[in-house]
Amino acid sequence: MNDKALFITLEGIDGSGKSTQVKNIAQWLENFTGRRTLCTFEPGGWDGGRTLREFILGSKDYNALSELLLFLADRSEHAAKVIIPALNSGNNIICERYNDSTLAYQSGGHKLNIEHVKSIIRACNFPEPDIKILLDITPELALERINSRKNINDKFESEGLALIKHAANFYRESCENFIVINCDKLSEHEVFNQIISRLEAEIKQCRSR
Ligand code: TYD
Repeated sequence: MNDKALFITLEGIDGSGKSTQVKNIAQWLENFTGRRTLCTFEPGGWDGGRTLREFILGSKDYNALSELLLFLADRSEHAAKVIIPALNSGNNIICERYNDSTLAYQSGGHKLNIEHVKSIIRACNFPEPDIKILLDITPELALERINSRKNINDKFESEGLALIKHAANFYRESCENFIVINCDKLSEHEVFNQIISRLEAEIKQCRSR
């Protein structure tokens, strides 16, 4: 039985509820696998990463290629300082946003050539997630949530519906190897229950491979 530490990513457009779910999923995973489970996020989920996060999300005057390279620089530090050491120590990791965010936003949203982006990501040789979860939600609903909860002050959220729609379409078209949860009509609790029942099945499958 392949009982190694698990690397799980949680993806979805802004306002899809990733941050609401992540700690409960981690708690469940810790009990289910008997391994310590760390929650992390991108951009900026490493010691010192806050400065880069604020730069990436705060500054509006760089182009799409620079944006891609900034997210990858962030991921490179995050992988080296957080993800790889945690997995090597036998801890599970749940990461809010990872390579698929880059594909959805920099390629789906900001129209960088998908094959180029994929090949740059491949060349970076970042660790591959074992399981990917997509919280799928209608962009209009997600935007309502974003607008109701805080000031819109990051570069990506301020681009509003157009960017979110492109990212959502991209996720929907390329999610065949994800656990996909459609969140539109579900309460937080129902979303959580669906995630863990799908995760449990997926982990059992992972372990039998
Ligand atoms: P964040 O605020 O953490 O997302 P959320 O609002 O879902 O909690 O992420 C900030 C933004 O960064 C988000 O709009 C998506 C964007 N992003 C990219 O464009 N590319 C990437 O590779 C990553 C990791 C994030």
